[in-house]
Amino acid sequence: MNIIEIIEKKRDGYALSHEEIKFFVDGVTDGSIPDYQISSLLMAIVLNSMDDAETASLTYEMAHSGHVQDLSMISGLKADKHSTGGVGDKTSLVCVPVAAACGVPVAKLSGRGLGHTGGTIDKLESIPGFSADVSMSDFIDTVNKIGLCIASSTAELAPADKKLYALRDVTGTVQSIPLIASSIMSKKIATGSDCIVLDVKTGSGAFMKTKADAESLASAMIKAGEAAGKKVSAIISDMNVPLGKNIGNSLEVIEAIDALKGTYDKHFFDTCIKLSSEMVSLSLNIEKSDAEKKCVDALLSGKALSKFEDMIRAQGGNSDVVNDYSLFKQPLYTYEYKAKKSGVVTGIDALACGKASCLLGAGRLTKTSPIDMSAGIKLNVSLGDIVSKGDILAYLYSDKSDISDSLNILNSAYTFEKG
Ligand code: URA
Repeated sequence: MNIIEIIEKKRDGYALSHEEIKFFVDGVTDGSIPDYQISSLLMAIVLNSMDDAETASLTYEMAHSGHVQDLSMISGLKADKHSTGGVGDKTSLVCVPVAAACGVPVAKLSGRGLGHTGGTIDKLESIPGFSADVSMSDFIDTVNKIGLCIASSTAELAPADKKLYALRDVTGTVQSIPLIASSIMSKKIATGSDCIVLDVKTGSGAFMKTKADAESLASAMIKAGEAAGKKVSAIISDMNVPLGKNIGNSLEVIEAIDALKGTYDKHFFDTCIKLSSEMVSLSLNIEKSDAEKKCVDALLSGKALSKFEDMIRAQGGNSDVVNDYSLFKQPLYTYEYKAKKSGVVTGIDALACGKASCLLGAGRLTKTSPIDMSAGIKLNVSLGDIVSKGDILAYLYSDKSDISDSLNILNSAYTFEKG
């Protein structure tokens, strides 16, 4: 077997065998296949796709290209959730404590944000003292003691995906359903949970711009996860508009705490309940309707909030933030973004809001650039609202005294129709 034959086979539209895919992933991991041949096969996959069996093989081999987390020291079926990435998506901060309050063990390894989409770890680190750098033994002990822990993903998990993702990013080969499905699922399988709930986003702020593509991605991920012995389910959710009202690290934690206290935006609440019900239903093996009742009760009774406080304390954070938002880092400047015309709000583009928030300081422009935990956007109007010229559409927070680049992007984010 050699890599040139494998590239030619995929170039000519044939399905690769499990052995050929293993040969490829092994060569990516140990560095024996050069980047130009890896990129060539990736492009052949983008153009000729992969069937379900190939996608399952690629997922399995990437998951096993490094350390596969063993969570067997935690009893019960461990549940994880994953979002394909969005703007204002703080659902993990609510779903994890809700599921834990229902008795589901949640041992979650998460990532940081890149580009216009945020990451759960960055958001949690806006809580003073909170650390996501947890050793594996502390991670397991914490879940055994309090039922939940969210830690930072390690470099040893799915190293083949890291190499492939970095190459895809610079060779025009990100946009491929089998490659995205195997990339996401390999990491989820390597983190060791038994049940995986997927939140597949569709719309302007998401990878999948259409519902049909989001459904194909969901189906590919479910099949790849099930082939690896996991219980998997997926929901498709809208990412044309940002999720909830707040975008930015501490702003999103504050919105999640408000939701855990019973004050929430409906779109955000509904998405959280759908996702946490899936986690509870899969892990406890109960009907979705019963799981939903349990989740609503956990949220409205305050049990989920107290799980969130337990998690903050267990990971070194100051849980007083729950009752005193002034303990979060405060921005130097608050700006009012006002409507330039009157009308009914018919669009608030998620991608534009994500980019504008990133430029205010909430996101990284490069992998290592620092982020401003207090920067971001608080939306002041929703779709369907009638606004007059001069009304405040959003509050912008930043340490920057010149935010003209963010304003230029926001000017294209809102669409109005005559009221
Ligand atoms: N997220 C991932 O982890 N991988 C992809 O390919 C796309 C989104």
